[in-house]
Order: sequence, then C-alpha cells, then structure tokens
Amino acid sequence: MKNILPSILFWVILISSSCKEDVKQSEAFLVKSPAELVNIEFLLTADQQPAYLVRFKDQLVLDTSTMGFDLRGMEPLGKGMQVLGTDTHAMDETWEMPWGEQRKVVNKYKELTVKLQEIDAPNRLMNIIFRAYDDGLGFRYEFPKQEGLNEVVIMDENTQFSLTGDHNCWWIPGDWDIYEHLYNTTKFSEIDAISKRDHPNLAQTYIPENAVNTPVSMKTAAGLYLSFHEANLTDYSGMTLKIDTENLRMVSELVGSGEGHKVKRTVPFMTPWRTVQIAEKAGDLIESKLIVNLNEPNKLGDVSWFKPTKYVGIWWEMHLGKSSWDMASGKHGATTANAKHFIDFAAANNIGALLVEGWNTGWEHWIGFDDREGVFDFVTPYPDYNLEEVVAYGKSKGVVIIMHHETSAAPRTYDEQMDTAFQLMHKLGIHAVKTGYVGKIIPNTEYHHGQWMVNHYRRVIETAAKYEIAVNAHEPIKDTGTRRTYPNEIAREGLRGQEFNAWATDGGNPPEHLPIIAFTRMLAGPIDFTPGIFNIKLDPYKAENQINTTLAQQLALYVVIYSPVQMAADLPEFYVGQPAFQFIRDVGVDWETTKVLNGEIGDFVTIARQERGTNKWFVGSITDENARELTIALDFLEASKTYEATIYADGDNAHWNDNPTDIKIEKKTVDNHQQLKLKLAAGGGVAISFLPVEE
Ligand code: NOJ
Ligand code: CA
Repeated sequence: MKNILPSILFWVILISSSCKEDVKQSEAFLVKSPAELVNIEFLLTADQQPAYLVRFKDQLVLDTSTMGFDLRGMEPLGKGMQVLGTDTHAMDETWEMPWGEQRKVVNKYKELTVKLQEIDAPNRLMNIIFRAYDDGLGFRYEFPKQEGLNEVVIMDENTQFSLTGDHNCWWIPGDWDIYEHLYNTTKFSEIDAISKRDHPNLAQTYIPENAVNTPVSMKTAAGLYLSFHEANLTDYSGMTLKIDTENLRMVSELVGSGEGHKVKRTVPFMTPWRTVQIAEKAGDLIESKLIVNLNEPNKLGDVSWFKPTKYVGIWWEMHLGKSSWDMASGKHGATTANAKHFIDFAAANNIGALLVEGWNTGWEHWIGFDDREGVFDFVTPYPDYNLEEVVAYGKSKGVVIIMHHETSAAPRTYDEQMDTAFQLMHKLGIHAVKTGYVGKIIPNTEYHHGQWMVNHYRRVIETAAKYEIAVNAHEPIKDTGTRRTYPNEIAREGLRGQEFNAWATDGGNPPEHLPIIAFTRMLAGPIDFTPGIFNIKLDPYKAENQINTTLAQQLALYVVIYSPVQMAADLPEFYVGQPAFQFIRDVGVDWETTKVLNGEIGDFVTIARQERGTNKWFVGSITDENARELTIALDFLEASKTYEATIYADGDNAHWNDNPTDIKIEKKTVDNHQQLKLKLAAGGGVAISFLPVEE
C-alpha cells in the first residue's frame, strides 16, 4: 500500500536567520513534516560542513548542529563539502504489527536526501537522508558506491545535537556494556555520567566519557518533550551521546572496540537513523511509533507460530536464593517435578508458558570464570531434568516451554552451537528462547554494545527465525525498532529489571524507576521487566531486600510496561488465595490499540489498552513516591456498550514501604460517558479490567 507522492515538497530558500556562533549560512534546504509541525533545515556552514536545525511549530528545538566523521587513514569527512543535488519523497502507509501495542501503524513522513561531495580531492561522496514526521525526525548517513573508497574505518561519528536550553533530563550513563543503571533526573548542565563508574552492582561496565545512553528524554522550559535515540541499528556500533555541559550540546559517541576503532564497513552502506521524538504531551512520546517506522518492513512474513503469552518461570526462586541454577549446590531448581508443578499452576490460571532456567549443564562454571567458552552446550539437560517429558507434560496441559540459553557472554560458543540448539527446540516444538549475556564479552577486545556484538545479536535473530524461534534477550543490545523487520525479536531486558530488587545492595529500584522507564527505555521497544511480585517484602528469602512499589502497582505494570511476553514472576505459593491474582489471570498481552491517558516523566503515567480480538480494555496507572489522585475519562470504551470494571486500587493505608500489600478490589458497571477517580498511594498504582457485559 505504498503511496509515494511526487516530489513536490521541496524548498530551496535563502535565509539569514539567527543561528549560533559564526555560522554563515549559504543556501538552506527545508523539509517539513506532513502537518508541518516539524521542520528540518539543512545547510552548509562557513566551513562548508553539513549541518541541520530543527523547529517544532516555529520553536527552535535544535540549533545549528554539524555532522561528519573521523576515519582511519584518511582526512575527516565533513568540512569542505558541496551539495550536488537533492531528492525528495513522501510516504503515507499503514502497516500491521503481527503482535504489538497496537495493530495498525501509520507511517507518514516527508523525506529529503542531500547529496554531498567534497570540493577538493579525493572528492568523497556522502548523502544525508532526513525524514520529517509530525512526531519527530530521523536522519542517517549514506556512503554511496564511489571510486577509491571501498572500506571505511570509523574512528568517530561527529553528529551534534545542539540544544536550545538547559533542559530537564532523564538519563543513564553511556555504558558500553550494560544498560542496567538507575535513571538520574538532572538539568542537562548537571549531567555527570563519570560519577556512575563505580556502581556497586555492575561488574561489567565501561563508561569512558561523560556520555548518556539513549533513549534520553528531556523536557524544555517551554514544556516540550524530546527524546533522542536511534533506529535500525544494523552492522554498526550503538550510539551514546557525549555531553558538552557548557555549550548545551550532545555529540554522538559510538561504542568502540578494543582494537581502537568504532565501526568497520564496506562501501556502500548506511548508518542507523539518528532520531528525535518531539511531543507536547509526555504521553505522546509513548504513543509515537517513530522508532519502528524508521525500520524496514517485516522480512520474516508469517510469524503466527509465536503467540504473545503470559508466563511463569523457574526463575525468581533462584534470584531469591530458594533454589539454584546449578546442581552442585544441592538445591537445583530446574527439576522435572518442579517444572510439572509450575505447569499445573500455569494451566489452572490462564498462563500459557513456562520459562525454565538452569536446565542445562554448565552452571557450576558460570559467574566469575574467565574461561567461559564451551561451558554451556544448550542441549544437555541436568540428569534430574527430563526435557522431553516436561515439554510433553506442558503440551498435555496447554502450556508451552520457553527455552533458556545463558551464553555467559561467550558469543563465539553460541555462534557455533546455536543451530544445533535451535534444531532441538524446533524438534520439540519450542518457539521462544530467553538468551543471556552476563559478564564481560569474550574476546575482551569487544563490548556488549559495539558493532561486533550488534552483528552477533542480529545473527541470533536471523538464525532463530529460520527455526521459527522468537528471542527475548537479556543483557541485549538496545532495541532500535528492528522488531518491525524481525518480528521474532519479541522482547528484551536492557534495563534494571525486577531482579535487581532481589539482590541490589543499594535499596533496589526506587519508586520513581518505572515512571521514568515508561518515558525513556520503553520508547525503544518491549521490555521483559517481569512484574507481578506479590510477596513484596521478599520474606523469608531476602528479608533485607524488597520491592519498592505497592501490590496494586505490580498489577498495573502488566498494562503500563509493554511486552508480548509478560511474566507472573512470583513463586506460585504467593499467588494462592490472593483475590488480586485475578487481574493477572484476566489481563491481555496483545493489543488492538493503546492510549496514554496522562503522565509526566518520572512522576506518573496511566495507559489504556484494548486486547486484540476481544472488546476487553485494561488500564494501568502508576505513580512515583508521591501519592496522587488522577481522574480519567472512560471515553476510550466502545460507545453503546456497558462494561463491568474491576478496580484493583491501593487500600486507604497503602504505602510502598509501610504497607505495600494493602489493596482494595471493587466492581462497578460503567460506560464510556463516565469518569473514574483513581487514588494512588505513594509508590502505588491502579489496575482495572473492563469486561463487556453481554446483553
Ligand atoms: C541475567 C538475567 O537478566 C536473568 O533474568 C537470568 O536469570 C540470569 N542472567 C541467568 O541467566
Ligand atoms: Ca540482567
């Protein structure tokens, strides 16, 4: 349904606008988004260097920001360029997500390609492609086929983002190995990632610069919301953003390799998109589909062999120390009997899958070992775990098994063995795997987020697809919307997940964590956060630790945090006899539409989602450490229908620390003319199911 309009959207104008510094502009090229909300201006500076500016409704959002590359063995590419010509193009299509937070996605933009060439020898060519959307923009570089330039080794990409104020920012450090940091809320001028180097819980970090990871979200003094990220990270290194606090500017800082370079590519090639989401309401950042839209259409075709599902796991019990992954400990969790116990529980509670960790040999040699190559083989179960029997038992009860492959960050071993591992899964009819990359990457010249690993993670996705396997990666490369192209990329971690609460020595994830995540990490894509802990204080296993939310918030997370695989993470015994568990039984995992009803970054957010294939709606609302009241209109419900709303709210005395399990459950008959007043306790939340009343 591609509708490519003729190239009528192109302006060449002469301007004398006011811009930073000594930039003397020559001619400028503009591209405006379809509704003319976002306006990108391309120009050459006095040094003939490519640069761009961005306006949102006449407000300058990014001031003159230059672009270029440092390359090994040759002059930098940037200054001294001329415009050879331009192309324009418009797109207005609607595509379908095979599973997702909504079924239909509108992809509507105007595109400008600027073709550049160095004025002097060696006259290298470079194109820059801009896409203006009404909810932001993307741009990427293209190194076209050209004489004399066959391979480039990028030492640095120098893409600037020049801010127009000292915005409020929500950020984590630009770590080359892990995204599992707590978010910081500071003015841009106060960002200090270096001070996070000695984080107590993260063994494998490398934070070389005062840089932040993306998505990094901001609020301007004028009340605009911005989020910076990238889309379609393919055969390139992840981008962090170096912070220049004095000039209020960010510059791309690619994740490197111990070999000294950042990226090696054969020409021709294109970089990932550099993206900026722009919104007048914080919730619009979440509704925006900019990141997936900037990816290629589905390459896999029908992926209906993967079904979005809730799942339980032989998992939390390891994080609590009740059992262990390895057998030598004498408290092995992944036994046939335990798996059957979980399958019975899942089958009785409308939960379709079971994750089993610690099923394969090798865990005795997992954390803290340098010689991790070849330790796990991904096909050999421990003797007390009968894989075939468990799979067959699950099948008889309608529960599928999610496979687990902890690579212990030895990707070459996984590369060698994954075909065999996926063949076994295929034979058993297992269609999903959770992968993991705990530890320093072997070889130690590489980082989790560099080009070498980006290519590894992609190889896993492509190989898994051949065997009809979907992947939920932990310690992953960040999501850049590639699930549009590879819809077997179902979810990933890439944040400080629930598990941190079980063993963090810094108090765990604070109550503001998830109200920040919803507007930062979640803009990138689905999150395997693993909600649903009812035994909030973790007694008796981890009495010194706890979850820093109320029980009602744990329920709300099934709606607020999007993932097509959503875990009921707690031990079954903590769900037994709990009326609140009914919400987890009922809640959907695959959505027709999503509406963000309200929200402020780091404070609160309320999201409504309609389940695919039913008329059921679910609402989740969460708050930070502050109690608050929010009124929501039910106008998202279908007109002329009556619904039974079951409201799982914080009790009158609920508080994330003092009284987290105080919950009150109430039923009401409602329709779409009504409003509901939600009362959220400190660190609390509300979860609501709306089930249509059949007349
Ligand atoms: C880290 C993952 O995030 C966690 O969920 C998993 O249990 C362990 N690695 C073991 O693979
Ligand atoms: Ca992890």
